[in-house]
Amino acid sequence: MALFLANKRILLGVTGSIAAYKSPEIVRRLRESGAVVRVAMTENAQRFITPLTMQAVSGYPVHQELFDLQAEAAMGHIELARWADVVLVAPATADFMARLANGNADDLLTTVCLATKAPLMIAPAMNQGMWQHVLTQENLQILQRKRIQVVGPSEGSQACGDIGPGRMIEPVEILEKLSGLFAHGGMAGLRVLVTAGPTHEAIDPVRFISNGSSGKMGYALAEAAHEAGAIVTLISGPVVIREPEQIECVHVITANEMYDAVMRKIIDCDIFLAVAAVGDYRSKTIAKQKIHKDQAAMLLELERNPDIVGSVGKLSPKPFIVGFAAETENLLEQAEAKRKRKNMDMIVANRVDTKVGMGTDDNEVMVLGEKRVSLPLMPKQKLARELIMMIASAYQAKQ
Ligand code: C5P
Repeated sequence: MALFLANKRILLGVTGSIAAYKSPEIVRRLRESGAVVRVAMTENAQRFITPLTMQAVSGYPVHQELFDLQAEAAMGHIELARWADVVLVAPATADFMARLANGNADDLLTTVCLATKAPLMIAPAMNQGMWQHVLTQENLQILQRKRIQVVGPSEGSQACGDIGPGRMIEPVEILEKLSGLFAHGGMAGLRVLVTAGPTHEAIDPVRFISNGSSGKMGYALAEAAHEAGAIVTLISGPVVIREPEQIECVHVITANEMYDAVMRKIIDCDIFLAVAAVGDYRSKTIAKQKIHKDQAAMLLELERNPDIVGSVGKLSPKPFIVGFAAETENLLEQAEAKRKRKNMDMIVANRVDTKVGMGTDDNEVMVLGEKRVSLPLMPKQKLARELIMMIASAYQAKQ
C-alpha cells in the first residue's frame, strides 16, 4: 500500500503500556517512509521503554517533562505543538484517554495535545476489562466527538493472559491509518508535470552559472499532488533532495535539457507546475578545458535560455499552468505581469530574502489567479498541501 508519509512531521506520544515495546518499531517504519519523528514520553512510558531507545531510533532528544528548562530552550512544548503535522499517541492507555477526554494538561504530552492544531490520532492499548469499562467507553465517545481519530484496539491474547479487545493494532496498520490522514483525492487521476530546482549552465568543465534554489518547494508540490491522487512527473534540476518514491523523476542539468524534457512530457498533461528557477542565460561558449586566472579580468558572453513556462503557455490546447515568481521588489506587480505575459492560470508570488524563499524550509506566499489569497509563513510541505488544494479547486472550476 502506498504511504503518504514522506517529510511529514510526526510527534509520537508514548504512554505507559506494555505495548510501548512496539513504539520503536513505529518510529523505524515512519522514518523508512520518509517521515521526521519526534517522541514525547509520559513518566510511566519510561518504565516500559527507555528514552535512550526512542532517542536512538528517532534521531532526536526525547521530550519528557513540561518544566524542563533545557528542553524548553531547545524546543518548547508550544513550538513542538506547532511543529507537528500530526500527533500520534501509540500506545494510548486508559488513563491517557481519560485525561485527554477531560481536557487535562497535567504533563507534557497532554499539554501538547491541547495546544496543537494538528490532527490527533491515538492507538489504545489496555487490558480488555479496562477497555470495555463504561468509563473508558464514555471517554472514547468524547474523543471521537472531538474528531480525535481512534485506531484499534484489536482483539486477541493479552500480556496479562486475558483474551479480548485491548491490543494495540500493529505498527504497519498504524502507519496505513496515519497515511490516510494525508491522502485526499482532489487531483485523482490528473496528470501533473512539475519542474523543480535550479539549472546549471556550464562555463568550463568545473564551473557553472546557477542560483540558490534548493528544489524543496517543487519536490513538496510534486509529493502533495501525488498524495492528492495525481499521476506526477517531476523534472528536476541538480538538487541534493532524495528522489520521492512512486513519482517518475527525470533529472536534467541545463535549461535546454529541462525545456526538452518538459516538451516531451507535456502532451496529455492536465496541470503544469513550473516551480524550477530556470537560468535565464547560459554562456555562449563552454571552454573545453578549465579556464585559468591568467587574465586580470574576463568577459563572459551570455545568451538567452528558452522560457519553458512561456512556451507551454503558447501550446494549444494548453494545460492548467501554475508558475512561481520570486522577487525582491514590487512583488505583486511583477508577478501579475508575469502571469499575463506567460499565459499562466495562477502564479504563486514570494518575496525572497534571507528568511523566506529560495533555499529555506519555510515560505510565505501570495497566490494570484481568479482570486488573490495570501498564505502565511509555514513549512514548505504544509504550504504545498494548501497550494495543491487551491490548484485542484481552481482547475475543477475551469473545466
Ligand atoms: O521570468 P521568471 O524567471 O521570473 O519567471 C518565473 C516562472 O517562470 C517560474 O514559474 C519558472 O519556473 C518559469 N520559468 C521557466 N523557464 C524559464 C524561466 C522561468 O519555466 N526560462
